[in-house]
Amino acid sequence: MREFFEYRDGQLYCESVPVKDIARRFGTPVYIYSKSSLLYRFRALKDAFDKQGLKPLICYSIKANSNLSVLNALKKAGAGFDVVSGGEIYRAMQVGASANKCVYAGVGKREEDIKMALDWGILMFNVESEAELALINSVAASMRKKARVALRINPDVDARTHDYITTAKKENKFGIDLYTAEQIFARQKDYKNVRIIGIHIHIGSQIVDTRPYAQALKKVERFIKLISGKHNVKLRYINIGGGLGITYDNEKVDAPEVFARRVAPYVKRLGLKLIMEPGRFIAGNSGIFVCRVIYVKKTPAKNFVIVDGAMNDLIRPSLYKAYHRIWPVSPVSEEEFVCDVVGPVCESGDFFAKDRKLPVVGPSDLLAVFSAGAYGFVMASNYNSRPLPAEVLVDKDRAYLVRRRQSYKDIVKLERLI
Ligand code: LLP
Repeated sequence: MREFFEYRDGQLYCESVPVKDIARRFGTPVYIYSKSSLLYRFRALKDAFDKQGLKPLICYSIKANSNLSVLNALKKAGAGFDVVSGGEIYRAMQVGASANKCVYAGVGKREEDIKMALDWGILMFNVESEAELALINSVAASMRKKARVALRINPDVDARTHDYITTAKKENKFGIDLYTAEQIFARQKDYKNVRIIGIHIHIGSQIVDTRPYAQALKKVERFIKLISGKHNVKLRYINIGGGLGITYDNEKVDAPEVFARRVAPYVKRLGLKLIMEPGRFIAGNSGIFVCRVIYVKKTPAKNFVIVDGAMNDLIRPSLYKAYHRIWPVSPVSEEEFVCDVVGPVCESGDFFAKDRKLPVVGPSDLLAVFSAGAYGFVMASNYNSRPLPAEVLVDKDRAYLVRRRQSYKDIVKLERLI
């Protein structure tokens, strides 16, 4: 895959813009995204499936990176969206997304979220329980509508990824087991205001070996055959969810072509329209997080590089012990040292890297944390009353501020003194 963050003459660039110029102009900590990378990765996935003779609807998963300018770029390239909340529907609406290209998953959809989605005319709900199906049915009835839904199946396969982001084992909260799903199909006519038009699976995230997709689809194919014979079911869509992984360190990730080749035979045999919901694959390697060194603190046990970014800005290392490559934006020193890269937050869990070999850096040097475009800013918080960082989108030789840094005033503005 092509990279859009590269070192040229000892300087890190995002497309044609030196990262140090962006840091100077907009301050640190800052997220920097490459528009060309987002579009390149979206198209790489699309082309791989087109080559297999499938024309998938690619619903970019908003949760990975929900900045409106990111959504707008993908919408213009033809993407639909996968949403998981009223807030994400609102974002999709803000960029003028077509409701009939959007799908809505999540185990806890509330009545008002369902109403909002139906009002908007969403393509379908990915339903995660029979109780939810019943609620969608009654909300649709009260609005004199017929809701389109897919049943999210829990195929009980192991995507072999981090425990927190594996979603299709029977002990996970997601989806409907095959036995219950069949019962729902048997009782379809009880739900007069819903039309079941698809099957959805999402087996996990950061999946680097795509064989578990085939495993899951094998079960789905068998299931669809069973219900088609028994319950007069006519489906139109198969949604394989998101989950395709990226390179953080030196993982070997199946290329989009390998993924497409693995999935295509099942989809073709089923004769259904393919939907997918990639998030990380599109956004992850399309963004970096840049922070500035405040101090280098040497203790008898360790070298700590203390930076102005922290776990509140990028929580993946603290939460999942996730590895992110880190390197100076303008490396100068030939000498290296082993250090922990840590933030100012009052927790020992506030780190970006432990025992990492880096060129020796000092105060005011910039560090880039790579592969931070997905599940970065979207998981940021105001912990320690730290303002949310700025977000910048680069398009070739121009850098645009697509979300300004929060001020202290922003942080307290919803509060009341009593
Ligand atoms: N579809 C559904 C129903 C999902 O739940 C998710 C992600 C996706 C699509 C997109 O998955 P992706 O293509 O991005 O793997 N915060 C974690 C990742 C959580 C993923 C949640 N669901 C992390 O930082 O690794």
